Amino acid sequence: MILKSLVGILILLISLCECKKAHCRHKVRKFPEGFLFGTSTAAYQVEGAWDADGKTENIWDHLTHNNPCMIMDCTNGDVAGDSYHNYKRDVEMMRELGLDYYRFSLSWTRILPTSFPDHINEAGVQYYNNLIDEMLKYNIEPMVTLYHWDLPQRLQDLGGWANPNVIEWYADYARVAFGLFGDRVKYWITINEPREICYQGYGADTKAPAVNFKGVGEYLCAKNLLLAHAKAYHIYDEEFRPKYKGSIFISLSGQFYEPESEEYVQAAYESNQFEWAIYAHPIFTETGGFPPVVKDKVAHKSAEQGFFRSRLPEFTPEEVEYIKGSSDFYGLNHYTTYLVYRNESAVGRYDVPSFYDDLGNEHYQPDEWEQGANGFPKVVPWGFYKLLTQIRNDYNNPPMIITENGFSSFGGLNDDDRISYLRQYIDAMLDAMDEGSDIRAYTVWSLMDNFEWMRGYSVRFGLYEVDYESPERTRTPRKSAFMYKEMLRTRSLDWHYETDTMTMTIDDGH
Ligand code: BGC
Repeated sequence: MILKSLVGILILLISLCECKKAHCRHKVRKFPEGFLFGTSTAAYQVEGAWDADGKTENIWDHLTHNNPCMIMDCTNGDVAGDSYHNYKRDVEMMRELGLDYYRFSLSWTRILPTSFPDHINEAGVQYYNNLIDEMLKYNIEPMVTLYHWDLPQRLQDLGGWANPNVIEWYADYARVAFGLFGDRVKYWITINEPREICYQGYGADTKAPAVNFKGVGEYLCAKNLLLAHAKAYHIYDEEFRPKYKGSIFISLSGQFYEPESEEYVQAAYESNQFEWAIYAHPIFTETGGFPPVVKDKVAHKSAEQGFFRSRLPEFTPEEVEYIKGSSDFYGLNHYTTYLVYRNESAVGRYDVPSFYDDLGNEHYQPDEWEQGANGFPKVVPWGFYKLLTQIRNDYNNPPMIITENGFSSFGGLNDDDRISYLRQYIDAMLDAMDEGSDIRAYTVWSLMDNFEWMRGYSVRFGLYEVDYESPERTRTPRKSAFMYKEMLRTRSLDWHYETDTMTMTIDDGH
């Protein structure tokens, strides 16, 4: 008898331990009151209508038209999901899901075809007015990104984000947008993912404008971009917030860098500082400015290489103050995690000078980690938890909005892999919240399939599948759309929920 109960207790203990490992810790987990859910897209990735009604060329039009096969499947965003003509269906999908908000971006050259405020394109403004008004009709809040990578090509011809005048150009555009839409838009995102803009666009050739001016371009861009962001923040804060009472913040990409073993703790720390804290530190710390370790390393290498000054430009003390605190939320886009080590293999492997030579680390993802289409993203929910914990600790627990998180497939409606990814990542986020992280909202990338930058249409991130063969660009909900809908309806994460139908309904009472 005693033996039997001992065995029983043992089995119970083992199963509890097992549950810690698997995702069965919390079968049903409630979200806190007031927590908001959304989905996101970006103009170039979904709108199409690339030259309709007065819109002019941006850097993605330029890259895809002049070097089509820099894109994996040689495609472009000329038509994409044609949201320019399908906005009513897009809002219908938001209603089907029961979204609290929808994050989308404005196309600069659709609103300002000359790049400047001397000419405002009425047709472009009308499109965004229609979209915003249609959303508000159904109580779906617009969350608007001013800049999601589509700089006017004319400004690129003048150097783009490497030219300090971009601070004024961008601020003018922001002021126009606040004036046009600020009465109805209460969530503004200044810039999406500075790292991808600056490192991939200027320090490499893996995003437009593919300048590839290594070790210099990305740092010039970083300084100008942070100042441009801060200027838009201050304009909103001083001129528009008093009337409109909205909020304004930046979305930083942050993948997590984990030491491969104990001996690489410092190396991983430095990877995190270079990769994302280079943008977070100036805004969210009390000291401000670029992270000390980044400043030291780039200055040191620059001197060794014969430069007369650091390739990482300095901020003046006034600029440090101007940028500090210039974000109402920490907007985070997170997808995956890498392991970091450092040994002589990094020596001579990277171009000199370059960002990765300055950093001096290697990072990778083990083959056995589960992955999305084309290897991105690998499924590492504990990395999300660790990143959220680090942000909480390093920046005094800023209020956060997860502005992107999502999984890529090769298409098809039965996306159990996406469901599993989303559940695991949301669970990890709830763990961080239980420990005090002040996370206010969560956004799935993406509402629907879209032009996935260098991967074209070869990979799919949507809760809704887009049929690119059909002239209407028909949208069909995937299984994950039903999972997300149920999560929003019940305001809880339920590992066991399975949809028994693939037919969508609208339950918003309209
Ligand atoms: C970007 C999105 C992109 C997504 C998936 C993010 O870096 O903001 O535009 O589609 O990742 O790759």
